[in-house]
Amino acid sequence: MKYTAKAAISAIALTVAGAAHAEPQAEVLHWWTAGGEAKAVAVLQQEFSENGGTWTDMPVAGGGGDAAMTALRARVLSGNAPTAVQLKGPAIQEWYEEGVLADISSVAEAEGWADVLPAQIAEHMKCEGDWCAAPVNVHRVDWIWANKSVLDANGIEMPTTWDEFNAAAEKLQAAGVIPLAHGGQSWQDATVFETVVLGLGGPEFFQKALVDLDQEALTSDTMVQVFDQMRTLRGYVDDNFSGRDWNLATAMVMNGEAAFQIMGDWAKGEFLAAGKVPGEDFLCASTPGEGYLYNVDSFAMFEVDGDDKKAGQDLLAKLIVGPNFQKVFNLNKGSIPVRTDVSLDEFDECAVKSSEDMKASAENGSLLPSYAHGMALRGAQSGAITDVVTAHFNSDMSSEDAVKMLADAVANSM
Ligand code: GAL
Repeated sequence: MKYTAKAAISAIALTVAGAAHAEPQAEVLHWWTAGGEAKAVAVLQQEFSENGGTWTDMPVAGGGGDAAMTALRARVLSGNAPTAVQLKGPAIQEWYEEGVLADISSVAEAEGWADVLPAQIAEHMKCEGDWCAAPVNVHRVDWIWANKSVLDANGIEMPTTWDEFNAAAEKLQAAGVIPLAHGGQSWQDATVFETVVLGLGGPEFFQKALVDLDQEALTSDTMVQVFDQMRTLRGYVDDNFSGRDWNLATAMVMNGEAAFQIMGDWAKGEFLAAGKVPGEDFLCASTPGEGYLYNVDSFAMFEVDGDDKKAGQDLLAKLIVGPNFQKVFNLNKGSIPVRTDVSLDEFDECAVKSSEDMKASAENGSLLPSYAHGMALRGAQSGAITDVVTAHFNSDMSSEDAVKMLADAVANSM
């Protein structure tokens, strides 16, 4: 549906009592500053302006959003919260418990969100039964991206097991190609780690270890093997990986300097923004193993004063879940629409695979929240795990020591 300014104004008049003449304003905090991300957020900015809104952009660069979340804390503590914030997973409920989130149930109910959102995802958007966030998309985390001509030139197929991945990497390394493009930032280490946990342990193990924080799973032999594989992967990364941004790692795959990247499908947004074609220039495959790790971006509205800001929040929430935005934004972002009623006709083969795998995994119980992208755990717990993963990746710590440290760190974070 395409909204006209007139339709938007009457919608606001309906949903914002006493603010019929308020002009929607929004200061929007987000971390979408890489090529594909920026193109995607521009879609929202444009729709907001076309519907009479005034957008104040507050981008805080830094993949994964760590810097953005630090900026948010500072703003809220100083009593000057932004209108709308890119926020997701249990962090939504954590902020709700601080008493600083606005209730957007009136928009959700008027727009029938309950009918068009998958139940498991809708749950993440609720705080004690009320709607407190608007979902943007579904990103899949467990992907491998590859440069097709590099694989072809070396006679390599997309790996379907971790052993195949390792064999391919050895071959590439011998041929002078960097096997794995990686950025040494803790959230990127965590991203790779969780795909290995899923791949080697399977969906049930992932659930026990990284969602339920079960000590038996955390200290198991399987977890030792996971750290062994992390050590192996460390050997496939080039010497300059430390601190590298994820999109620069994607660029290494694009230009053939490296063969693979393990990263969520925001990496596809980068390939697409650079004019690369899936199946021709680059390949996508889910990381070896069963299951699907989801990462749903969403926006939460913070308690603010002023009818113009409240009108901005309502308009933004409505547009975000609207079908046109869901299509255009996600075509740019690399993700798939969170609405179940948006056609995928214009989407590429990676998006279609994501959607099919998501449905299948929801049916067989292997649709799992990403721990690395803040969907599974509260900040204290996920932070404790990530610290260990990064400490192991950046040292010669043994897998056994890493497992002990992991179990202790998790126990101490509870
Ligand atoms: C994720 C986020 C994605 C993408 C990525 C890299 O956590 O959900 O939308 O932006 O970080 O910045």
